[in-house]
Amino acid sequence: MTFYGCAVLRQFEMMSTYVLNDSVAITRSRDKLRSLQLLSRKGLGLPVTGFAHSPDDIPDLITMVKGAPLVIKLLEGTQGIGVVLAETNQAAESVIQAFMGMKANIMVQEYIKEAKGADIRCFVIGDKVVAAMKRQAAEGEFRSNLHRGGTASVIRITPRSAPPRSARPRRWACGWRGSTCCAPTMDR
Ligand SMILES: Nc1ncnc2c1ncn2[C@@H]1O[C@H](COP(=O)(O)OP(=O)(O)O)[C@@H](O)[C@H]1O
Ligand SMILES: [Mg+2]
Repeated sequence: MTFYGCAVLRQFEMMSTYVLNDSVAITRSRDKLRSLQLLSRKGLGLPVTGFAHSPDDIPDLITMVKGAPLVIKLLEGTQGIGVVLAETNQAAESVIQAFMGMKANIMVQEYIKEAKGADIRCFVIGDKVVAAMKRQAAEGEFRSNLHRGGTASVIRITPRSAPPRSARPRRWACGWRGSTCCAPTMDR
């Protein structure tokens, strides 16, 4: 869908038609590692994240995020699909090996336990947060995605929980976007 959608958008861009989110912005946002790199460039506190190509690097990857429990993610994916919580180092190693064996690009991330399955999604127009919702994962699930059984409620965002201005989706050059999910109790 992204490939096809971006091809169509590029056609509009070529014709100088105004597009709310251009194809480059969408491509940036679809790649989880690229998004994090853009955000971290602006100094936003993010979960420790590792990326590697070779199976030889798996032990270092696990050590880098301070060991299990840790989160393994496909670089491309939505609705929580391809986001895995590995409870032990052995499980992490097996899952990473399996993904690498399938030539899937993955990243390994520190598990934010204090989030307790919750996150905040901010909706941004330009560089202004216009609405926000808190999502809570279903019982026994760490992913807050509604497609994974999570629930959502409208919240009023405070300056502390809003993503800093520098981290808002201008980093992807999006005009409108549901942005960065922050763990509400995360003080980083
Ligand atoms: N490092 C993490 N620590 C704790 N929970 C996480 C972490 N990464 C993701 N999650 C949970 O998993 C959900 C899905 O992860 P996300 O990277 O947003 O994938 P997707 O793009 O498929 O929604 C998040 O909304 C959050 O609830
Ligand atoms: Mg998400």
